[in-house]
Amino acid sequence: MNTNKKRILTGDRPTGPLHLGHYVGTLKNRVRLQDEYDCFFIIADLHTLTTASNLEKTSGLNDRARALVLDYLSVGIDPEKSVIYQQSRVPEVTYLTTIFSNLVTVPRAQRVPTLKDVMHDLDIEAPSVGLLNYPILQAADILMVKANLVPVGKDQESHVEVTREVARDFNRGFKEIFPIPEAMIGEGGTLIGTDGQAKMSKSIGNCIYLSDDEETVNKKVKGIYTDPTRLKPTDPGHIEGNPVFIYHDAFNDNLAEVADLKDRYQKGQVGDVEVKTKLALALNRFLAPIREKRAQFEGKNDLINQIIEDGSVKARLEAQKTLDEVLTVMGIRE
Ligand code: TRP
Repeated sequence: MNTNKKRILTGDRPTGPLHLGHYVGTLKNRVRLQDEYDCFFIIADLHTLTTASNLEKTSGLNDRARALVLDYLSVGIDPEKSVIYQQSRVPEVTYLTTIFSNLVTVPRAQRVPTLKDVMHDLDIEAPSVGLLNYPILQAADILMVKANLVPVGKDQESHVEVTREVARDFNRGFKEIFPIPEAMIGEGGTLIGTDGQAKMSKSIGNCIYLSDDEETVNKKVKGIYTDPTRLKPTDPGHIEGNPVFIYHDAFNDNLAEVADLKDRYQKGQVGDVEVKTKLALALNRFLAPIREKRAQFEGKNDLINQIIEDGSVKARLEAQKTLDEVLTVMGIRE
């Protein structure tokens, strides 16, 4: 790793396939950042344990980890440039979590807003200690590689804030060894779902996945919610907040076509069929290179396992180095 470059750590829990919302919100940015920074991309499987306490939920983790890596590779995250690793293969992170958990009070952990959100969404009455510890495990992910920047969505900002507090408190209490990491909130924001009601989200089922084939995309595009006030093609339509045009803006590389469609839509001179047919074509154009890349790795579990293994060895070296340093400055290791 080039030590002159600043470090980045970010990643995902392996909970399911990535979609266009992930692309806009973070993946596009990650691909770009790879050249400028030392990037670590974590497959945060230990984090999924915070809401999975039986075999049915845990047994598919390796498959989902490989699927996530395949999604990464398909968009151009490059294991030659960046480290892609699986959290559970770096056990030092749990040791660091144990140490850091002493720097965070229970009320502080309870105030992290994602805790209430998860409890609400999953109907959890009382959080487990593991769930309460979620942001501290994340702090250990980030601090174990001494990351400077953490590109995340707005929803994860509070976890980076906990990380900054942990780093500061550690530095103050023992020795200044951690950089204070900064959250890097993506400019892409969130992408509206095909239902037009909420952001694209697996649990709602309003997603177009990076792994969807052409036919699936065509079908999903036909079903996209548009302007409900527009009953006939001759009615003037609304562009703002209309998912069809949000997707055109985000993915259609033919800017003149988008401008023309918008113009005619507002004047009531174009039907939904044309707008959607052109959108499906644009999305498939956008997805074509992603599908091509995916095809190079798809079904090659050994190759993907190797990528995960190689990345995890690299991440583990960093974690061991940091843990040694932590124990030394704490006076535990002599
Ligand atoms: N909690 C993050 C999410 O759900 C995933 C994650 C785990 C992460 N460790 C991280 C993100 C470290 C950034 C940095 O999206």
